[in-house]
Amino acid sequence: MIRWWISALQLTELFVSVVVHVVYGFYIFSSAVAGDLSQTLNEWVFKPNMNIVVKEDLRGTSKTTTNGDDLPPIVLVHGIFGFGKGKLGGLSYFAGAEKKDEKVLVPDLGSLTSIYDRARELFYYLKGGQVDYGEEHSKACGHSQFGRIYEQGHYPEWDEDHPIHFVGHSAGAQVVRVLQQMLADKAFKGYENTSENWVLSLTSLSGAFNGTTRTYLDGMQPEDGRTLKPICLLQILRLGVIIYDWLDIRLLKDYYNFGFDHFNMSWKKMGILGLFDCLLGNTGPFATGDWILPDLTIQGSMQLNCRLQTFPNTYYFNYATKRTRKIMGVTVPSSILGIHPLLFIRVLQMSQWSFPPDISPPYKGYRDEDWQENDGALNTISTTTLVSQSNNQAVTLQMILSVNPCNQESG
Ligand SMILES: *[C@@H]1O[C@H](CO)[C@@H](O)[C@H](O)[C@H]1NC(C)=O
Ligand SMILES: *[C@@H]1O[C@H](CO)[C@@H](O)[C@H](O)[C@H]1NC(C)=O
Ligand SMILES: *[C@@H]1O[C@H](CO)[C@@H](O)[C@H](O)[C@H]1NC(C)=O
Repeated sequence: MIRWWISALQLTELFVSVVVHVVYGFYIFSSAVAGDLSQTLNEWVFKPNMNIVVKEDLRGTSKTTTNGDDLPPIVLVHGIFGFGKGKLGGLSYFAGAEKKDEKVLVPDLGSLTSIYDRARELFYYLKGGQVDYGEEHSKACGHSQFGRIYEQGHYPEWDEDHPIHFVGHSAGAQVVRVLQQMLADKAFKGYENTSENWVLSLTSLSGAFNGTTRTYLDGMQPEDGRTLKPICLLQILRLGVIIYDWLDIRLLKDYYNFGFDHFNMSWKKMGILGLFDCLLGNTGPFATGDWILPDLTIQGSMQLNCRLQTFPNTYYFNYATKRTRKIMGVTVPSSILGIHPLLFIRVLQMSQWSFPPDISPPYKGYRDEDWQENDGALNTISTTTLVSQSNNQAVTLQMILSVNPCNQESG
């Protein structure tokens, strides 16, 4: 009887969670559409103004080409559920930073793709050419070796003498670290001269360096940090993503893309049988684990981290985030009224999380207490470790903010 009650409670929690997240997603999507529509309407109604706008634009570009040439670009790298310039209409993931200066680049790296795939994509976005995911990795993960073609790189001159400033939010910070390691390892065919010094600085905005317990709350198995629980929020997301990609509606995908095009999940490519295969969990990114959630568990991050170095010539800056505080030894959300209700629940859930006692913890010395402070998406501990690790190697700066500078929901 008690077991029955617990299952019923869990199902109710799941149901509420699904409804809240779907409503939130729909809200973002429809505000993007509404923003676009009103902009189009504006342009149409105020057509006479068009000339002035064009003139201003021209002036803007000539200005930056004359005096901005010697400055390195700043590349802003989004996190999970993020998107780059050109997606979701006029909406900006980085609060409009890319509209301030031509030197600010915001690549679109797919919203659910793995950290590895994002790092590969980012390289070709900057250098230009067809994305090469690498033969070995592609075979192991069951996707095409070659992906999207960037006819024109966004910074083709990128090299040791023309390095770049990177700013990574959440998983995006880890993407830059993986990319830097690939550059150091000379992991791009045809570019034998890459080195870690192509990265001038990495600024992390609540970087996901050690994973997050959020992943377990949403449905990753704490046993392995790789597979999904049979019934959970992420399972519903999985089904939704597969169907979205299978339907392959151009208009929608131009608007928002999960980034799995290299998995060939469109109905044109895998037919109805392929769809069932994918839904049953035999093929696709969720079957091979080549998507972002496994990279964001504590175990997944440890696997990534054991191959990552920090480098002496790169500047690392770290902004951590926290939405909790301690009251008489108990970690609780830092406020009730000043916080969005959805966020409040998420912060609360994470501050209460404990690793199931019947499972061996992800690493020696793991303590639940260390992981209780959080910002609703990431545990604060996970966003601070890069600096403590690279302290004496480069200039580092650390701040703990009580507000996430970026969009809170896109952990
Ligand atoms: C995906 O489709 C392309 C051509 O449309 C093909 O070259 C590639 O091998 C396919 N990849 C997989 C993993 O089936
Ligand atoms: C690679 O670097 C070497 C020396 O550092 C240089 O001679 C060579 O031209 C470079 N190759 C490319 C493709 O840039
Ligand atoms: C957390 O991440 C940092 C940076 O990659 C790493 O040095 C450290 O060992 C990690 N800690 C744990 C507990 O995995």
